[in-house]
Amino acid sequence: VEEAATPADLAGRHVLVSAGGTREPLDPVRFLGNRSSGKQGYAVAAEAARRGARVTLVSANVELATPAGCDVVRVGTALELQEAIVAAVDAGDVDVVVMAAAVADFRPATYAGAKIKKTHGDGDDSAPTIELVRNPDVLAGLVAARGGATSPFVVGFAAETGDATGGVLDLARAKLARKGCDLLVANEVGADKTFGQDTSTVHLLAPGVDEPVTVGPASKADIARAIWDVVAARLS
Ligand code: CTP
Ligand code: CA
Repeated sequence: VEEAATPADLAGRHVLVSAGGTREPLDPVRFLGNRSSGKQGYAVAAEAARRGARVTLVSANVELATPAGCDVVRVGTALELQEAIVAAVDAGDVDVVVMAAAVADFRPATYAGAKIKKTHGDGDDSAPTIELVRNPDVLAGLVAARGGATSPFVVGFAAETGDATGGVLDLARAKLARKGCDLLVANEVGADKTFGQDTSTVHLLAPGVDEPVTVGPASKADIARAIWDVVAARLS
């Protein structure tokens, strides 16, 4: 069986992909995390490399083999992820940023240097309250910093379950408008959907385009291909 020829439509491009999920430490042995496996982000990075791009993969807590042709920068927390993304973009040659990582919106306000004990103080074994503070929004920062000749094309991801205020597509459209990115990949998530799974369904939404491109249920490799088909067309 022969594989379909891979278009080299990303040759000469530098692509930055974040993948996985950040972990926000509480103490040396505990963290607040999320269920992102990194599979979709890794598939996006692998496909970009296959199509000729130079790829920098900012990887947050992913246990997957590094895709061929990708340079990996490993990060743990949202602040570390932000630092890695900003450093790469500030170098000035990034054409596309794909924010596939699940970045924690909040982190514990304080980090306990020693393990938090069940009984604290004078025999006090009441449940502690964990105070949180906001993390920076990395994607929003990229969009806000835009305007120069070297501004990258920015792709956001949205994991939505739908809620009382709207379905997945409604929420995704609102998020695209709010975030101001060039493309939004909206994922339907739930206990049994997407996270750690090998297939999913996504909607690709672009500003000014009414109808989303819906892909799936499809493998994460096929979804990666569809994303780059859209982005490569927009770059040229
Ligand atoms: N994102 C980011 N920095 C954050 C949080 C999210 O860069 N601190 C990026 C994600 O990588 C993703 C996009 O923003 O590409 C959307 O993430 P999502 O969690 O769906 O959106 P939020 O704006 O955080 O909204 P909410 O969690 O309330 O749905
Ligand atoms: Ca969020």
